[in-house]
Amino acid sequence: MSLTTRDLSPAIGSEVIADAASLLSGSLAAEIKAKLTERGVLLFRDVHFDDEELNAFAASVSPIDNQDEKGNFKVTMDAEINPMALILYGTRAWHMDRLDTALPPLGTLLSPRVLSLEGGETEFANTYAAYEALSDEDKALIEDLEVEHTTANQLRNVELPAGLEQIVDQLGMGTSRIHPLVWRHRSGRKSLVLGWTATRVVGMDPAEGDALIARLIAHAEQPQFTYRHHWRMGDVVMWDNTGTMHRVQPFEQGSKRYLHRVTLAGEEPLVAA
Ligand SMILES: [Fe+2]
Repeated sequence: MSLTTRDLSPAIGSEVIADAASLLSGSLAAEIKAKLTERGVLLFRDVHFDDEELNAFAASVSPIDNQDEKGNFKVTMDAEINPMALILYGTRAWHMDRLDTALPPLGTLLSPRVLSLEGGETEFANTYAAYEALSDEDKALIEDLEVEHTTANQLRNVELPAGLEQIVDQLGMGTSRIHPLVWRHRSGRKSLVLGWTATRVVGMDPAEGDALIARLIAHAEQPQFTYRHHWRMGDVVMWDNTGTMHRVQPFEQGSKRYLHRVTLAGEEPLVAA
């Protein structure tokens, strides 16, 4: 069987036109995985998978990450469901998931269970396309650089309710990890390893390093490299965490917005260019 797709924007995102039964059969899995790397974000509309079906579909494409509840994580600000809800404020800043690990997830799937009344769109930026569009001068400048990433740093780049900082300290989100700024993938293609988890460029004057990170993020978040997803019930969105960064748009306080998430295990260590 061959995959029917429709591009959502020129550089990132394709809708896969397939019914739920075909997707669950696994017959399209290999093509879906290849398309994921090629397009960064895949949208499956009107499939209405329950949690078990979403897990089965994800596992047919690539092995699930067992780090949190077999790769599942309840994405919600509702503290009754997710006690770590406040940490999700940080997801309003551009990031790649789990840069605190040596082998970040290959990808993530999200499917809404409750929609926000307003906002709550998820935005994606293609970090392959952003790298490729850099000037030769910039490519040479950043080729060998390394950047330290700390998850908690995302929270310094978003508006927070009072008191959140202490809670974050109590939860001990201080883990950091150094990664190359340019990732040379097994395919030979290069992408930027970028997001507001970046706390410093190794060996660079702090102000100069901060300015470089900010400039690269401003470059990568330009409309030609991004896709903004407006959620609808029944949607499944799958993204390549190794070749994109993402963030959520703010939504109403006290929202019951809730998405079910499944994470695909990482396959490829971050290798410098
Ligand atoms: Fe995320």
